[in-house]
Amino acid sequence: MAETILVIDEGTTSTRAMLFARDGRCLGSRAEDLTQHYPQPGWVEHDAAEIWAKTARCAQAMVDQAGGADRIAAIGITNQRETIVFWDKTTGEPLAPAIVWQDRRTADLCRILKDRGEEPGVQARTGLLLDPYFSGTKIAWGMANWPQLREAGERLAIGTIESWLVWKLTGGLHVTDATNASRTLLMGLGSGGWSDGLIDLFDAPRDALATIVDCAGSFGETTLFGGRIPVCGLAGDQQAATIGQACLTQGETKATYGTGAFVLSNAGSAPPTSKHRLLSTVLWQLNGRRTYAIEGSVFVAGSVVQWLRDSLGLIAQAGETEALARSVPDNGGVYFVPALTGLGAPWWEPQARGAISGLSLASTRAHVVRAALEAQAHQSHDLKTAFAADGCDWARLRVDGGMVANDWIAQDLADMLALPVERPAFTETTALGAAMLAGVGCGMFADLCQAATAMRGEVRMFEPQLDGNAREARLAGWQAAVKAVAG
Ligand code: G3P
Repeated sequence: MAETILVIDEGTTSTRAMLFARDGRCLGSRAEDLTQHYPQPGWVEHDAAEIWAKTARCAQAMVDQAGGADRIAAIGITNQRETIVFWDKTTGEPLAPAIVWQDRRTADLCRILKDRGEEPGVQARTGLLLDPYFSGTKIAWGMANWPQLREAGERLAIGTIESWLVWKLTGGLHVTDATNASRTLLMGLGSGGWSDGLIDLFDAPRDALATIVDCAGSFGETTLFGGRIPVCGLAGDQQAATIGQACLTQGETKATYGTGAFVLSNAGSAPPTSKHRLLSTVLWQLNGRRTYAIEGSVFVAGSVVQWLRDSLGLIAQAGETEALARSVPDNGGVYFVPALTGLGAPWWEPQARGAISGLSLASTRAHVVRAALEAQAHQSHDLKTAFAADGCDWARLRVDGGMVANDWIAQDLADMLALPVERPAFTETTALGAAMLAGVGCGMFADLCQAATAMRGEVRMFEPQLDGNAREARLAGWQAAVKAVAG
């Protein structure tokens, strides 16, 4: 039996294919950057055709590296969530731009629905809140503003990114996995099926939606890479990272610091209810049974470093930030609230915008950069407080994502959260989680526990070291800064 797994990790800023051995070793990786389109302030779009073309190219490179399609046991797909694609079922081509999860164009629609008192009912049914982040209002906006979607009639297909990629890989299979479906505002969290009431509320065309399936299984196969390869694993990227971090029992929690920062805590087999502005979501669905998570979603993490580099020119490379942060003894009173695309959990203020406060003539570039890095721990601390208030405090935090390759940030997280922080040596946990799901789906492993034992590697611990008074002073400074932005 072929023992290599091909993972497609389609993220916000790049798309990637990776090859994994059965023991979790990463045998190869190929990535391509994606064009970001900002047609208006607050709008973010992708070209789904570009996503597919680049994904297919990266996947082909990995199939070639493996020595052909017959060397690959299964494909696992993981993806940026909530981003929504509209395409034509007959041509298989996009009918409109993909509206990205960061896009804020539906802030007014969310406000109208909230003013109508819809949020408690939506939260009870979906575990989500009325924020432009989720796909439901993006679908409503597309249907109202892009006439070609209504004109397409029954030719219209709508799906999240994994759904789009499966369609293209298989030549027309229209499925979505339960983790991605749980981010649309259209799926009943307890039932795991599309809800007619929610479909009406968001004016979504029922026939354009995909069939909701498990995260592991044999969903279909692709013949595009010179042979048959089954697609056996599907999950949104944050759920895949939680699986890749082996948060397989209730209470285990991970935080991924990628474009945004996303904390998910395994909440077991009953849908949790947050009273503190966190989300309830599907962590995985296997054999029709769902395991749930509580989630805190922060919209800006690594993208603030990109912004410091590309928009302000304050640094030439992301790697400089660690040395700059270490070059000053503290933040010098400077706080950076990185609300560049509004504030997510636990604030949920789509109209909020970023701020750098506490500047003086003594402030330097190093202070501003340090404040941007410190914001990661500050935002995480806000989430920790909300999780604890929901009865789900963290005993330790497993971290991953590009940002925490920076040792300074990993230590700052341990210091500000006053918790041990665990970082795996192999930080591509999102891809690893997709490989684990595909491994279960193709029968290579009996279950996720077996997959984690086989595939997960070494970890490094960061223990809290900061003095309590210094910690309290920083948290107080952050609270003042974020409240000024959140209003
Ligand atoms: O919910 C959005 C999230 O899935 C995006 O993830 O890795 O592209 O920052 P990432």
